[in-house]
Amino acid sequence: MSTTRETAFTITPKTDAISAAERAALLANPGFGRVFSDHMAVVTYTEGKGWHTPEIMPRQPLMLDPAASVLHYAQEIFEGMKAYRAPNGDALLFRPEANARRFRKSAERMAMAQLPEELFLDAVNQLVKLDAGWIPDPEVGTLYLRPFMIATETALGVKPSAEYKFIVIACAAGDYFSKDAGPVTVWVEERTVRASRGGTGEAKCGGNYAASLTAQQEAKANGCHQVLFLDANERKWIEEMGGMNVMAVMEDGTLKTPPLGGTILPGITRDSLLTLARDKGMTIKEEPYAIEQLYADADSGRLRELFACGTAAVVTPIGTLKSAEGDHLISGQTGEVTASLRKTLCDIQFGRAEDPHGWMHRVG
Ligand code: PLP
Ligand code: COI
Repeated sequence: MSTTRETAFTITPKTDAISAAERAALLANPGFGRVFSDHMAVVTYTEGKGWHTPEIMPRQPLMLDPAASVLHYAQEIFEGMKAYRAPNGDALLFRPEANARRFRKSAERMAMAQLPEELFLDAVNQLVKLDAGWIPDPEVGTLYLRPFMIATETALGVKPSAEYKFIVIACAAGDYFSKDAGPVTVWVEERTVRASRGGTGEAKCGGNYAASLTAQQEAKANGCHQVLFLDANERKWIEEMGGMNVMAVMEDGTLKTPPLGGTILPGITRDSLLTLARDKGMTIKEEPYAIEQLYADADSGRLRELFACGTAAVVTPIGTLKSAEGDHLISGQTGEVTASLRKTLCDIQFGRAEDPHGWMHRVG
């Protein structure tokens, strides 16, 4: 467990914060992405000057010129991570340096300024320290952190922006999927694709999510919670979901997940679960899985469990796969391996269990 202490940030606290009682009411049932904390971190980049003016300030609207390049050419990247309330009251972050690293890689892919990882970590640490009162009780959820970067240069020429803002906001997060839904139903998207080789699939950029929304609409229209995307070349191999990675538990206990190869987001939850599964002695296969084979395995019972994993989704069982051709039932209940991996991960994240890999950082 490590703690960061010194900060580059100037901190201006909010003077008219809401009462503790009002906040408690908001935190009782926050849903996802609607109840925001009091402050935000902002750092500015100017070509020739570099990153400057790191500030924590009351959360407020942004002032952007209508010609700001993010509004036209979508130079935007983001991260998703969480602060957890430990039993002793500490605020904990899970592998924040992995988010900082992925953020730099996303910036590189989108030709954006590289934010030093220490500045990313400082921003997140200072914001959570100031807004720790917004972390819900562990039974309710976590404080979801959304670091992001936008291109702010006033210029309509198509080129990398010369100015950026790095911003971190935070919102209380209960379950991403409704609690009593049980295993979720997933739409297998055969029409559109999320990412192709050489594209931006492994970058966490807003455009990838915009491109996924028609499939998400189709999923909803078909009574599904989420979308499973297939590869762009053959529409044969499963890749990932709109906002999470996917894993299968086979009859022999093997944990199987599509390999990273440029079109899939390298999930930090994915990587952590593979590590925890290895710790449990499970066999891991990061290999392509054809959708037709997956259907056959679901129907024959060779596929025992299927789940989604990600920061927002944590570990969410998938009960049924639906497509234009019909339904394939995997299970109506949460599988044993799914439940055990979820528990092991959450116990570490909430500071209830040993942290054998040094993943947790105490905020302070
Ligand atoms: N895949 C996509 C498309 C995502 O948006 C996310 C969520 O961030 C993930 C996978 C899972 O990544 P992580 O576990 O780092 O949250
Ligand atoms: C996350 O899990 O952090 C994501 O970015 C995915 C999205 C569903 C909120």
